[in-house]
Amino acid sequence: MAERYTTVVLFGATGDLARRKLLPGLLHLFDSELLGNLRVIGTSLDDFTKDTFVEFAAQAIDEFSTHDRNSARWQDFSKRLDFVPGSAGPEALKKAVAAAEAMMPDSDSEGRPPQRLHYLSVPPNAALSVIQDLRKADLVERSRIIMEKPFGTDLASAGALNSSVHEVFSEEQVFRIDHFLGKEAALNILAFRFANGLFEPIWHRNFIDHVQIDVPETLGLSDRASFYEGTGAYRDMVVTHLFQVLAFTAMEPPTALEPRSITEEKNKVFRSMEPIEPTDVVRGQYQGYRSEPGVSPESETETFIALKCFIDNWRWAGVPFYLRTGKRMAEGQRIISIAFKEPPKSMFPSGSGVGQNGPDHLTFDLADKSKMSLSFYGKRPGTGFHLDKLSMQFDLQEVDWAGSALEAYERLIYDAVQDDHTLFTAAEGIERVWEISQALLDNPQPVRPYSPGTWGPNQVHQLIAPHAWRLPF
Ligand code: BG6
Repeated sequence: MAERYTTVVLFGATGDLARRKLLPGLLHLFDSELLGNLRVIGTSLDDFTKDTFVEFAAQAIDEFSTHDRNSARWQDFSKRLDFVPGSAGPEALKKAVAAAEAMMPDSDSEGRPPQRLHYLSVPPNAALSVIQDLRKADLVERSRIIMEKPFGTDLASAGALNSSVHEVFSEEQVFRIDHFLGKEAALNILAFRFANGLFEPIWHRNFIDHVQIDVPETLGLSDRASFYEGTGAYRDMVVTHLFQVLAFTAMEPPTALEPRSITEEKNKVFRSMEPIEPTDVVRGQYQGYRSEPGVSPESETETFIALKCFIDNWRWAGVPFYLRTGKRMAEGQRIISIAFKEPPKSMFPSGSGVGQNGPDHLTFDLADKSKMSLSFYGKRPGTGFHLDKLSMQFDLQEVDWAGSALEAYERLIYDAVQDDHTLFTAAEGIERVWEISQALLDNPQPVRPYSPGTWGPNQVHQLIAPHAWRLPF
């Protein structure tokens, strides 16, 4: 398919996400010719000019890209950048888009006119005013919008946001991004489950004991206090990323790898999820959080959360899913771990090692250097029967085609440009996850303190007992 001429309008262009991921990602897509016909207009509340924005982007590239400001591709890309300060109003944005499109042919080789991709890298409460500005600037036609998470802050606000978005953009134009769904290992959950005959027959309550989705982070707030204080770990990570990968893990086989089938299967998972019981939740806050700049000294925002939830359907009834994530924890990891049931009876003598390191597991590691591993018991060489936990691994870094990997945001921006909704989240599923969260949001457990550099408050072990957290390995 011919590549369409595209103007990316980046709202929040001087923010952290733009600096770390979006500008380096757009350069990578441009460089790899996946998005060669591209122009980028940054806009934000900061009082930047085109030149200061180009310098901002150059610094981002130096810091977060394999390119640097001396590379020929950056030089070419930088000429495609423009900036419009938010204070200049919708008319100025309209003019900048017209100027970008004046540098493109009227249509591509398939006769399609240039299109616009508006990336709303802005907090949830700013999204609506951006959408109104786009309407005023007459930038709705030939346009798609990418909306960042969290999508709303509860059921009522998500529903209201969906209705307001739909007053301006049709659902087909809206791409709600969850970058975890662009991670190679998350996509490999689908490949593993549905491209092999081996795993799917055992992928249910008869063979799986429990599932862990564990995303501890060593990072703290990184200048995001104002966002984080109003958001917290549950809204920032669980209702979005962790529930989305849970849906990939739990869904029934879709009829095809296309948006409608995948969305419908994910929605069925969300519909079957039982409301989260506040007593199945541990909320934590790292010691020192309340003294961070921009944080209230009485803050009750959780920087850590762990919970148990259930999917009440034929495949998963009674199988607990344990989710955990937090800031300033002992390690940065992102794993989904499927724990298989123990054999019904063991012929191995006690002390042989069987079962000593937990059950056998299949683990998807969602780190940038993604990995999948299957751990199981095997015999140690020599006399007797001493068993050790062994592992078979697939490591993305060790295969020839590792170079073709795209970072999650790159993959998803590319898909949005191609009008492919497969890996984006849909309004119904989002509203349902808010619905099952209501009791927890209405009646949050108190935050429990934990020391930075640990695995969270002690209560997290009671939550998962009689099992144990898989991490640390
Ligand atoms: C973001 C959250 O969506 O995901 C951050 O807002 C979090 O708080 C980040 O650190 C984690 O993403 P990744 O790709 O680094 O695992």
